[in-house]
Amino acid sequence: MRDVFVVTGARIEGGDPTNLLLRDGRIADIGPTLHPAGAEVVPADGLIALPGLVDLHTHLREPGREDAETVETGSRAAALGGFTAVHAMANTDPVADTAGVVEQVWRLGREAGLCDVQPVGAVTVGLRGEQLAELGAMADSAARVRVFSDDGKCVGDPALMRRALEYVKAFDGVIAQHAEETRLTEDAQMNEGILSARLGLTGWPAAAEEAIIARDTLLAGHVGSRLHVCHVSTAGSVEILRWAKGKGWRITAEVTPHHLLLTDELAASYDPVYKVNPPLRTGEDVEVLRGALADGTIDCVATDHAPHALEDKETEWAAARPGMLGLETALSVVTETMVDTGLLDWAGVAQRLSRVPARIGGLAAHGRHLAAGEAANLVLFDPAGRSVVDPARSASRSRNNPYAGRDLPGRVVATFLHGRPTVLDGKVQG
Ligand code: DOR
Ligand code: ZN
Repeated sequence: MRDVFVVTGARIEGGDPTNLLLRDGRIADIGPTLHPAGAEVVPADGLIALPGLVDLHTHLREPGREDAETVETGSRAAALGGFTAVHAMANTDPVADTAGVVEQVWRLGREAGLCDVQPVGAVTVGLRGEQLAELGAMADSAARVRVFSDDGKCVGDPALMRRALEYVKAFDGVIAQHAEETRLTEDAQMNEGILSARLGLTGWPAAAEEAIIARDTLLAGHVGSRLHVCHVSTAGSVEILRWAKGKGWRITAEVTPHHLLLTDELAASYDPVYKVNPPLRTGEDVEVLRGALADGTIDCVATDHAPHALEDKETEWAAARPGMLGLETALSVVTETMVDTGLLDWAGVAQRLSRVPARIGGLAAHGRHLAAGEAANLVLFDPAGRSVVDPARSASRSRNNPYAGRDLPGRVVATFLHGRPTVLDGKVQG
């Protein structure tokens, strides 16, 4: 039988071992005694089965910087990381601010066929923060855009932000804000604190993030619209989100794997691989972010996978572009910071890396419970293994991997996208 698979012995979200029959793109049946003749067997003893991961925040760099990443190479990295859907950020060249560009990215994703690539539309024309982009046309396009973001830049004008929030209500869209009060971050290089003073690097104060989150949650509450806060990085931001959510406003937030694991102390190496926006924060911030992800104040994990070409990254700290890779290591970093610490179980991981981001992004075929009848989007993960991260083995076209040389837990063994394996035995298929 072609394209019929039986996954054997997998523990769905950490439950008892069972078998899953995948046929015609769907989970046809689930049960411990299931063993249909002719189906290709995928042994999964000891592996955790999770719904395919969904990333709300991926930079794929196509069109414009295909030397750093393409939709195809980024999709390979996504599949290897266990992702079945990624939201491709709009800060490409040209910017994804028209129906034409978002449809181009969407088509490239379909052609690569390794992951569902859902384009994010820009909020403002050219990310310039002056004029709303054609949000309605992007929503109506073949790409059916629902998430809009100027990420990389903050929508700084509060009146424009309000109008964007109001506009996307018509099609249940969401504005994903990169919260940065840029008047407070001019020339900023790293987290503002004792360490930035000691290293002589201009600081990026927590207040620059928190001020925008406070403003935008108030705006979202006022107009009754959906706001999503990108890459929350400070303890103060968590406090504001907790307050705003307590009002019942329609607010969601993400944290990156790197903000759950790495701290500003890495800047002391002056290795630009650790330069990122928002910057790595303090150990106290990391603790609070982990707690907030566990208690739901932060809804989900998003990678902010930000590939950069060598010449943009392997240079002096101040000249280097901010951003780090994240797709291939996300599940391992979450295992280290949230599962091995006892803060989340596997159901909690499925919630925060699949179900919730799929819901926020409006992706109906993703983030479903692994149950008969659902689309067969899933990842098989070995929680027991450990491996040392080797950037040279990455599927990404870039090498700015902040975990290089680090020993991380777990390994993605297989990923299935609509019933077909995109990864088997840790290798991309096709
Ligand atoms: O570090 C970052 N890199 N932060 C952003 O907001 C943008 C991203 C990029 O595009 O490289
Ligand atoms: Zn950003």
